[in-house]
Amino acid sequence: MEIRYHYSLKRHNTFGMDVSCTCFAGYRSAEELVEFFASGRQYDLPRPFLHIGSGSNLLFTKDFPGTVFHSDIRFIRELPEKDGKIRIETGAGTVWDDVCEWCAVHGLWGAENLSGIPGEAGAAAVQNIGAYGAEFKDIVSEVHCFDAVTCSIRTIKKDECRYGYRDSVFKQSAKGRYIVTSVILEFSPEAGPKLDYGQVEAEVKKVMDGIPGTPLTPRIVRSVILDIRGSRLPDPAETGNAGSFFKNPVVPKPFYDKVANYARSKYGPDYPVPHFDAGSGFVKIPAAWLIEQCGWKGYSEGNVGVYLKQPLVLVNATGKARPEEILALEKKITASVQDIMGITLVPEVEHI
Ligand code: EPU
Repeated sequence: MEIRYHYSLKRHNTFGMDVSCTCFAGYRSAEELVEFFASGRQYDLPRPFLHIGSGSNLLFTKDFPGTVFHSDIRFIRELPEKDGKIRIETGAGTVWDDVCEWCAVHGLWGAENLSGIPGEAGAAAVQNIGAYGAEFKDIVSEVHCFDAVTCSIRTIKKDECRYGYRDSVFKQSAKGRYIVTSVILEFSPEAGPKLDYGQVEAEVKKVMDGIPGTPLTPRIVRSVILDIRGSRLPDPAETGNAGSFFKNPVVPKPFYDKVANYARSKYGPDYPVPHFDAGSGFVKIPAAWLIEQCGWKGYSEGNVGVYLKQPLVLVNATGKARPEEILALEKKITASVQDIMGITLVPEVEHI
């Protein structure tokens, strides 16, 4: 375990918050983690403990007073097939998009829609990342974790992970107990493309029309997804951000009807209010739309702002933003969506 004291976290969070931690501990293998905890050396480190990936879904609100752990377990390897499924294992510290690229290059369908999501494989398993109609849970088979209670590596089967919308057991009842060390993904040879989200199908068709006779491959869909993302979302390497700042709210259908009536009274009876059926009488409303309706799209103030092409993303526009500025903007947006739409936005980004 490599341990550093009074360490800057600026390079470890895509928002680019210039905060530090008392202690930073990096490791390269699951065995190193087990050995470290088994030896009791963790008792020498300041608490609380926090485990991060590439910090692409969190907001440090201040200096972190304890120890930040970070995994450098990076590998992708093929496993023997099981029940007719092609399986791979990837280390928790592997860049998620490298996994998507590997799958696309090897002709595996299932990870291509998740291309370009910032972060690492371990965080993907905790967060159940999702985009363009696909979710991590669709391709995971099991998650290998360091269990801080038993001080050993254990396997958590997909069903035990209790995946939901950007949610899992690792964020709920097992929070703080497990550290993901690797994930096993499985792919069905019969799987095919998933194009039924937004403009994906139309964009894929445009590409395919330009290369008649060529079969559609995961590589082609991946490149379309990367283009769509690139045109909508800011690159954290250029503009600090943590992707969607808020979750898309899920509300009872009658409540959605009220919001829709409000919009139609404003824009006319045929106005298409964006929404997705969430089952059991519930409807998901895009938070991006709610934020835009409340007038925040493209808003900027000091060092922070609301991204013009996707208002669900808050940005560190100058690279010099302090956590307080992001928090103040979050508060204003939440209050206005509450006032105007009667909906409480919940942050997707974890506040530390
Ligand atoms: N919209 C607007 N105004 C805008 C942009 C979007 O009104 O300026 C409305 C449109 O009606 C659009 C709808 O919002 O159809 C949905 O927009 P989009 O397809 O961009 O997706 P999203 O719901 O805003 C979610 C994920 C993203 C993921 C995209 C694409 C959440 C919180 N966010 O965003 O994930 O990339 O779908 O699948 O679920 C992330 O989690 O960090 C993230 C970027």
